[in-house]
Amino acid sequence: MRTLKVLISTFSTILLSGSFAAISKVAPPPPNPVQLFANLSKTDFGKDIHGEKVDLYTLENSNGMIAKVMTYGATLTELRVPDKRRKSVDIVLGFDSLKPYEEQSPYFGATVGRFANRIAGAKFVLDGKEYFLAPNNAHNTLHGGIRGFDKRLWKAEPSNEGGVPSVKFTYLSKDMEEGFPGNLTTSVTYTLTNDNELKIDYVATTDQPTPINLTNHAYFNLAGAGDESVLHHLVRINADSFTPVDKELIPVGTIEPVKGTPFDFSEPREIGSEIEKVKGGYDHNFVLRPGKGESKEAAVVVEPISGRTLTMLTTEPGVQFYTGNFLDGTIRGIGGFYPKNYAFTLEAQHFPDSVHQDSWPTTILRPGRTYKQTTIYKFSQGVSHANWLHN
Ligand code: GLA
Repeated sequence: MRTLKVLISTFSTILLSGSFAAISKVAPPPPNPVQLFANLSKTDFGKDIHGEKVDLYTLENSNGMIAKVMTYGATLTELRVPDKRRKSVDIVLGFDSLKPYEEQSPYFGATVGRFANRIAGAKFVLDGKEYFLAPNNAHNTLHGGIRGFDKRLWKAEPSNEGGVPSVKFTYLSKDMEEGFPGNLTTSVTYTLTNDNELKIDYVATTDQPTPINLTNHAYFNLAGAGDESVLHHLVRINADSFTPVDKELIPVGTIEPVKGTPFDFSEPREIGSEIEKVKGGYDHNFVLRPGKGESKEAAVVVEPISGRTLTMLTTEPGVQFYTGNFLDGTIRGIGGFYPKNYAFTLEAQHFPDSVHQDSWPTTILRPGRTYKQTTIYKFSQGVSHANWLHN
């Protein structure tokens, strides 16, 4: 018996050392992060609830700006921007791990689709046929439905053409996903230039007519995420009119002048200067003045203490200006807790609920046509308030 035990243990030792030898021959795991180019690296960001691997890409420019984007939701998770003393902080709300994005993110930095903002009654008629969508905001559809583009896994193609880092994300949204007709092939490309621009290019094609309205839902705080409210940020929006909403935040269908109302940001003004007069805070679509070129300046925001300045340009006809009204301090992200008004968004878009407003710019994409949208968030420092007022 004893001899047998000795034999078994010797045998298993041989087996074990054999398998250790086999393990040690297996290549070591790739370093985390993996440096793909001098200014672009890739990090493992964990697995989503479906067990799929999520990757995070870090793009850097020559002025110390850093943007992080991940395959889950083609989401911008971090954006580090220097102030006038060259101190960089993260100026978008977000998390440093995947789980909170899946469980509690109110679209922080996400790509929103197939249709940004609300569709009243979660239904629409297209070419005589009625379509029913997934309601996820009272009886309306918000930001593409229950599992919109923000909760999908995108494929990534990193590149650094001409030394400029970019990541192209692609996603195929299947026919009838969340109730929308047509297979929609979508791409979203983030590029970080040495001119301190974060450029986002969207392209989409379909095999059946479908509504489409894509945007990015970055929550900005130019003082730094989690630092303070944005009520003292100065804002100018290049709009003479806006689309008023009902109590469910659905546009009532009119386009009204901003002049003489709390919506008048045609001259720079503190976000907080008249916010009290707007029930809940700003959460409205501004109708942008038509520009000369393809991309027009939509808005400029300055945080006076750091001097950080954001200029937004877009090809879209509207912008949703939202002041983080639904943040309530319960979410803790990078930089701390996020109470009400701790961020603003400038979501480039066609007007919300356009599928019910025939006179507004159309959101219907047809086979053979290509949807294109470009939005640029450009950063600078030390814009003098006085100069800016007179520009
Ligand atoms: C958009 C909407 C808001 C809100 C946020 C996300 O900005 O207009 O009403 O739903 O998204 O919380």
